[in-house]
Amino acid sequence: MTETHRLLIAIVSIGLYMLWVAVLFFKHRKKNNYAVSGEETLVVYASQTGTAEKIARAKAAALSQQEQTSVVSMASLKLNTLSSVSKVIFVVSTYGEGEPPDAGRTFSKALKKASSNQSDYLSHLSFEVVGLGDKQYAAFCQFAVTLFDNISALGARALSPLTTLDSGKGEHLSLLGSLPQDEQHPTHAFTLKNRVQLNEISLASGEASKEPSDHSEGKPSNPASPGLFGLSLNVDHSNHTQELHEQWEAGDVLEVLIPQQGQSPIVSRSYTIASVPQEHDVKLVVRQLVKDNGQLGLGSGLLTRSLPVSQSVQAYIRKNTSAIITNTQCPLLLIAAGSGIAGVRAQLAKRALLENAGPVWIFFGERHPMQDDVLDKTLSPFQNSDCIFKKSVIFSRQKGGGYVQQRLVEQRDEVKSFLGDTGQVYVCGHFEGMGQGVDMALQSILEAQAYNALADEGRYHRDLY
Ligand SMILES: Cc1cc2nc3c(=O)[nH]c(=O)nc-3n(C[C@H](O)[C@H](O)[C@H](O)COP(=O)(O)OP(=O)(O)OC[C@H]3O[C@@H](n4cnc5c(N)ncnc54)[C@H](O)[C@@H]3O)c2cc1C
Ligand SMILES: Cc1cc2nc3c(=O)[nH]c(=O)nc-3n(C[C@H](O)[C@H](O)[C@H](O)COP(=O)(O)O)c2cc1C
Repeated sequence: MTETHRLLIAIVSIGLYMLWVAVLFFKHRKKNNYAVSGEETLVVYASQTGTAEKIARAKAAALSQQEQTSVVSMASLKLNTLSSVSKVIFVVSTYGEGEPPDAGRTFSKALKKASSNQSDYLSHLSFEVVGLGDKQYAAFCQFAVTLFDNISALGARALSPLTTLDSGKGEHLSLLGSLPQDEQHPTHAFTLKNRVQLNEISLASGEASKEPSDHSEGKPSNPASPGLFGLSLNVDHSNHTQELHEQWEAGDVLEVLIPQQGQSPIVSRSYTIASVPQEHDVKLVVRQLVKDNGQLGLGSGLLTRSLPVSQSVQAYIRKNTSAIITNTQCPLLLIAAGSGIAGVRAQLAKRALLENAGPVWIFFGERHPMQDDVLDKTLSPFQNSDCIFKKSVIFSRQKGGGYVQQRLVEQRDEVKSFLGDTGQVYVCGHFEGMGQGVDMALQSILEAQAYNALADEGRYHRDLY
């Protein structure tokens, strides 16, 4: 080979490499930067479980009669996009303890940084903020409050004072009226086929009652709580519900309407669906909540005790976009405690029914090995699927036991190499205790860059309550 040949090969290789870099750059830019024309009103939502997104779409549908509107998730919004828009409407929920939903984390950080510089960067912009929250949480609509303040600090003009809605009391429902028909949720009758108790906690369990608190579910537990129930519900097909099966995916939630006495407003409770459509039945795993006065919780009491087999409840399936994992080839870490096994079961079933799905590593925490060995029972018939790489179980009330986040940290090196650069994480169960602990564990296991990439690249799915 002559010198000229070598030179030519080098030039062609460099050219190809630069072309590849350029392709990657533009692909990345397209994914992360939402392009708008200055004329349109941007409706931006940050939603964890889909309610704020629905309100954003309803608002956009109502506005589109008068003006050009676009709806966009905050996850794909860059701060500099707002420099080319004149009007923006934010519809945001609050998650964690007054924090943004996962889709709002990056934008919120960028906004906070920019607003601390006190510039008039957004003085051309007019805006509205609708906050969605629940007054049961101390930091009611905190993310909406912070967003409103930070946008104002950059010189933008508020078109109206901050609106806050308590979704726990159904204050958001009137805003859903202008949602297109196909995005509204007609309810259906879901008939209880069977119900089994998955654990064997007895009321006289001395060991259980000595324990002051238990973070396997994340909330202080009532020792008299008989525990966890598995339910199978059958959808009534007589009322055009055939398509229901096509609409539901692992990660989605069943929104159960609770029958109320007299004129009381309708209340609902969410339950992560534990099955996939191929199984036909909607399966749930419900923790029975016993309050201090001995009364059962409204939703869990209905599902675990007062609803007789063969009777039905009105419910609808709600999309839970942040919990849906489309890539089925990458490694998947499924983490749960207690009733969170529902989400793990659905995600596992999705992969187990595919050929050559990527590997799944399950981390599960419960209270007592003698009474709570619910893992294999619940995961049946997928508990021995080829896609399972490993199951790591930990019991909080066993000598030398602990919580699921501890198990993660103990196996940090293996967890890190299992996840690699493409692995996904799905966490299901209570936010308090378990969800928070797992988040801290992941932060300590992964370097900051890898942890941030997990959230930014949509590989961190938190189905927490
Ligand atoms: C997206 C999502 C998915 C969910 N998935 C599931 C699931 O798969 N399985 C599941 O079991 N739950 C799930 N939940 C929780 C579920 O929606 C209900 O919140 C839960 O069943 C309690 O509701 P309830 O109506 O029975 O209790 P309520 O009647 O609403 O009573 C709750 C109240 O009881 C009090 N309380 C709470 N804990 C205790 C305690 N240990 N002792 C005494 N008092 C207490 C508190 O004041 C609380 O406000 C999910 C929630 C969300 C948001
Ligand atoms: C784990 C969790 C934490 C929450 N934390 C708060 C909070 O700190 N403040 C608040 O006002 N609402 C809080 N909420 C209530 C939600 O904001 C409320 O349910 C809202 O309707 C959810 O909207 P979304 O479906 O768009 O995410 C929390 C809800 C969950 C499940």
